[in-house]
Amino acid sequence: MFAQDNLLAPEVLHDPYTYFAHLRDTDPVHWNERWGGWLILRYDDVVKVFRDHETFSSDRMASLMLELNPQEQEHFALLIKYFSKWLVFTDPPYHTRVRLLINKAFTPTSVEKLRPRARQLVEELLDEVQLKSHMEFIHDFAFHLPVIVISEYLGVPIEDREQVKEWSDETSRIFFIRANEPDRRERSQRGLEKLLAYFEPLIDARRRHPRDDLISALVQAEERGDLLSHEELLATCTVLLFAGHETTTNLLANGLLAFMRHRDQWDALRREPALVRTAVEELLRYDGPVKATFRVARRDTELGGKTIRAGDRMLLILAAANRDPAKYPDPDRLEITRSPNPHVAFGQGIHVCLGAPMARLEAQEAFLALPRRFPDLRLNTDPARLEYHPTIVARALKALPVSW
Ligand code: HEM
Repeated sequence: MFAQDNLLAPEVLHDPYTYFAHLRDTDPVHWNERWGGWLILRYDDVVKVFRDHETFSSDRMASLMLELNPQEQEHFALLIKYFSKWLVFTDPPYHTRVRLLINKAFTPTSVEKLRPRARQLVEELLDEVQLKSHMEFIHDFAFHLPVIVISEYLGVPIEDREQVKEWSDETSRIFFIRANEPDRRERSQRGLEKLLAYFEPLIDARRRHPRDDLISALVQAEERGDLLSHEELLATCTVLLFAGHETTTNLLANGLLAFMRHRDQWDALRREPALVRTAVEELLRYDGPVKATFRVARRDTELGGKTIRAGDRMLLILAAANRDPAKYPDPDRLEITRSPNPHVAFGQGIHVCLGAPMARLEAQEAFLALPRRFPDLRLNTDPARLEYHPTIVARALKALPVSW
């Protein structure tokens, strides 16, 4: 029925929800032969895996290494070295230690201080398009806000922003499993080389002359005499940059599309802006930016009546869990007042998204301003013609034309 389990089939990329709902109903812990691993689709099973990091490892590099021969391992030594230090791909005890140190610098209070600036940026970006009658929402808005916010927070100078984002996009290619990209590892490594060469002197400068930015706070973060090493600092800067923009761009774009398809909810938010907080949670649940995240079993175990063997790869399908009818009444309906809404769009457990307060803040400010300034906003294309990037993990529109 669904193109032989092809997670990159055009109809699955366009509407993953129908495919995942079918699997969740018929085979909720599903062996996907084509990808070579398990898909976990029920809310309760996904949460169980998130919460059991002893049984289910996040060590993506170990799994990637198996795909590389010894020459390739040598060739991609730099990628392997730094990605093995990216928080999201590590297990305790490394993860516990480094997350504790990063938490000292990247605090919800320091993020909340960004709100007035995010509000100003939203208004400025919208000022630039207001006089036109249309925009490509991703290119004109959703792409810019997150990269400006994370760059300013980190302390990346304005003039370097676009360049740094380009290198970060190159670096991330390896993870997005894009179709037709045989050179993605090569491009990833080149992007990473550039990013490291960029951050190296910036970190040294902040070490000598600290400023009021995250890089300075990371350099100084200390827990009982322990500090982040130079390599850990480099890995952290690159992971925050990478994690900090594309996902939020997709939340803004998927969110706006959801509103365009549920006009009553757009009008409700316009009439009652105080609903913006629950609205953003519902957008995260309804069509979140991360369709799936990776785990690998450390030992033989049982899940949903299936035996998972040590070494088996798994995809936790957040897009399916967030629409599980066992958890949510009327799950395919966008309902901006929905409460409670314990979605798993940011994950759960020890790896729960570090940047969630930042992503929420940006989305709240954007969806406060958009219905106020563009009450009559409408989609400028047939929804059936919208295209998504061919990736298994990200739910990423290529473009979203709108007019007013
Ligand atoms: C709407 C936007 C975002 C979504 C949907 C999202 C989603 C996620 C998810 C699902 C995870 C858990 C992955 C796993 O357990 O395998 C995660 C982890 C992470 N996110 Fe986000 N994220 C978003 C924005 C951000 C931002 C803005 C930042 C940083 C500025 C960020 C930084 C991170 C980091 C560092 C981790 C790893 C945490 C750890 O392993 O302890 N994310 N994110």
